[in-house]
Amino acid sequence: MSVAKQILDLNRFDAGKASSMPPVLAERVQRRQATFGAASVLFYEQPIEMARGEGAYLYDTNGTRYLDVYNNVPSVGHCHPRVVAAIAAQAATLNTNTRYLVRIVETYAERLLATFPAPLCNLVMTCTGSEANDVALRIAENVTGARGFIVTKSAYHGNTSAVEHISPSSFKSQNTAPHVRTVPAPDPRDAPDADIGMQFAAQIQAAIDDLRTHGHGFAGFFADSIFSSDGIFADPPGFLQQAAALIRKEGGLFVADEVQPGFGRTGAGMWGFARHGIIPDIVTMGKPMGNGFPMGGVVTSPDHLAAFTRKTSYFNTFGGNPVAAAAGLAVLDVIADENLIANAAQAGGVLKDGLLALKSTFGQIGDVRGAGLFIGLDFNNQTTGAPDPAMASYVINAMKQHGILIGAAGLYGHTLKIRPPLCFNTSNAAFFVETLRTILSGAN
Ligand SMILES: Cc1ncc(COP(=O)(O)O)c(C=O)c1O
Repeated sequence: MSVAKQILDLNRFDAGKASSMPPVLAERVQRRQATFGAASVLFYEQPIEMARGEGAYLYDTNGTRYLDVYNNVPSVGHCHPRVVAAIAAQAATLNTNTRYLVRIVETYAERLLATFPAPLCNLVMTCTGSEANDVALRIAENVTGARGFIVTKSAYHGNTSAVEHISPSSFKSQNTAPHVRTVPAPDPRDAPDADIGMQFAAQIQAAIDDLRTHGHGFAGFFADSIFSSDGIFADPPGFLQQAAALIRKEGGLFVADEVQPGFGRTGAGMWGFARHGIIPDIVTMGKPMGNGFPMGGVVTSPDHLAAFTRKTSYFNTFGGNPVAAAAGLAVLDVIADENLIANAAQAGGVLKDGLLALKSTFGQIGDVRGAGLFIGLDFNNQTTGAPDPAMASYVINAMKQHGILIGAAGLYGHTLKIRPPLCFNTSNAAFFVETLRTILSGAN
């Protein structure tokens, strides 16, 4: 039977295997664990000590170069010189709390908001995606007067105590909180004879009804617009429309969590929700926003924000400070000047085609799906069709030996999460596909 996996257990270093590590590495791991204790999480059977990054590459302390097919935070490229220069120049000029007028801060807000459709024209700035989702929860509760929320079964929306309740993929043993319902991820293979959008909306309707029956009311639905931790579900574009219409009819708020697909990753515009032709009530964002500088944000309509601030005031010491604004502005400039959205479409298309071609050769590949530079590739047992997380883990560690960094996703951890910086090019894509071919040929 397939066992659901916790998000932080995917590709996680296991201290029980520490004895097989070279002594220098073992000593480094020991130092980490002595200081960070039980909360320390490291990747890989043998962790990597990183030294520097450049573009789509990371380099370890031995000088080994890795093609980064995992990291979406440095989304315009590791240590992008324009972002680094913008951060350094602003840090050398002025960095203060957010209660003064500073021109670069308003300029950033205007530039970012110009990428959104009406009526999404107000911005709250935070330092992380978790904080942004925490604010979104509170806005939805204040606007609706209800407490009930719906998320997908393996969703991850962050790490505050409130947001953890809507992040079932981080649960170890606890049950879903009384005011939260989960629905299955929108996997078109689960609806071969039906419309996945209709089926998804019907599941949300049942969850709304159940929340009401139990007295929680319906405050809103949170969707990672590409369903990353559920295993990456992007197609067909538009499948969120029925859900969005239903949520509006039922008086709840649709929150699009753009922490993963946002800032151009899908290759079809800046935002994942736009690919589905919907306008959410609230949009949250984070990771790629500052290319590594800690930034998050909430975009919503003036009415929703006013409903929130009527009941409480919100202040964030660091969110949207001048250095954050400088980093964010440089990210927007680089996305535009280097045509990174078009590159995500082009390089992502080459990558997906190459992986689909591998699927016809290797029976272990159960599915390839995604949009732009965010692709999920499932490994399944060739005989039973069951999810095969052990194969995913084998491939992830073998890829590392071939100089490629990659991670896993999905309820059972059997999905390769293919999510490189947006400067990943078509030759990087070809190298990735050929390396996977070599590994799978050896595993046959
Ligand atoms: C979809 C999604 N939302 C929110 C978050 C939380 O962001 P942060 O780690 O910046 O708090 C994450 C982080 O992985 C995420 O993937």
